Amino acid sequence: MKKRILVTGAAGFIGSHLVDLLVKDGYDVHSIDDLSGGFRENLNLKTHFQKLDLRDLKKTTQYIKKICPQLIYHLAADATEGRSQFTPINCTERNYNAYLNLLIPAINNGLKKIILTSSMSVYGSQRPPFVETMPRQPEDIYGLAKTSMEKATEILSKVYKFKYVIIRPHNVYGPKQNMSDPYRNVIAIFINRLLQNKYFYIYGDGKQKRAFTHIDDCVKYLKKAAFIDRAEGEIINIGPTQEYSINQLADNVLRAFFLGKKIPDKYQPHYQPERPLEIKNAWCSVEKAKIILGYKTTVPLFEGVQKTIEWARKKRSTKI
Ligand SMILES: NC(=O)c1ccc[n+]([C@@H]2O[C@H](COP(=O)([O-])OP(=O)(O)OC[C@H]3O[C@@H](n4cnc5c(N)ncnc54)[C@H](O)[C@@H]3O)[C@@H](O)[C@H]2O)c1
Repeated sequence: MKKRILVTGAAGFIGSHLVDLLVKDGYDVHSIDDLSGGFRENLNLKTHFQKLDLRDLKKTTQYIKKICPQLIYHLAADATEGRSQFTPINCTERNYNAYLNLLIPAINNGLKKIILTSSMSVYGSQRPPFVETMPRQPEDIYGLAKTSMEKATEILSKVYKFKYVIIRPHNVYGPKQNMSDPYRNVIAIFINRLLQNKYFYIYGDGKQKRAFTHIDDCVKYLKKAAFIDRAEGEIINIGPTQEYSINQLADNVLRAFFLGKKIPDKYQPHYQPERPLEIKNAWCSVEKAKIILGYKTTVPLFEGVQKTIEWARKKRSTKI
């Protein structure tokens, strides 16, 4: 019989893609989300879905007692990193507190392994490429919550003997992501502005560098992490090593949006003052993921952006 798996944050961007892969592989997937940041239309109807807010310890405990998951992928989060300075309590409740509300009852009901989705934000403003051996030095409240979640996993796993893998994805983008939230991925923000026939903004001089991961190059390794013994107890970055400045990204998005045509002047980006506490440069080393998970970047930025624009246009036209 196939393993029973629980995925939290299943209506969200990465969670919904992960669920689709697990269902395709024939697993018995249970999924939860409170639909605060994800969408019902992202849900895979072949799973047992429960609308549940993980901040509610009593309801979460009842649910976990009912399904007793042996393997959990935890993706539920308030993933709006840029907002976390302004909503520190909400960020901590939806990330750190919600995680403990899930983890403790799960441990008490037979949990064998948890795959925790963390973030590059735990590296703070150390010099990239970020390597997993670097200390955790978060510089925003979201990074602090992810740091606490990682540390709590390590401590509790020693005490209660469950297994874990900590995955740190990097700037993931692609179909099914939230396109209208100004605190999320910059690619979605740029595309969304263009779809509204508006230019987009670049904060600072645009020379800050990032790497961008197409969803297809993230989700398959996230899935794999649970089934490779060598990954147990490890922290693993996932993301391409090729970094781009925000100016280069803007150029890619504009070229993909106006494919083969001259880019009208009115869509050239407008520059705004730097945002407070924004990390200047961030990308990671993916050597460990290559060795343990067989990681490879397969979707180049321009192609990934093009695919995302196609999806966003289709989605928009079906909504009108
Ligand atoms: N997208 C990225 O670039 C990226 C990068 C690094 C890490 N991550 C992490 O990956 C995970 C998934 O990110 P995403 O981009 O898919 O975000 P997302 O917002 O699309 O998905 C998160 C889901 O969690 C749900 N949720 C929030 N609070 C909840 C609660 N209290 N109870 C139940 N469900 C709740 C939301 O409704 C949403 O559907 C998150 O943990 C995020 O921190 C994402």
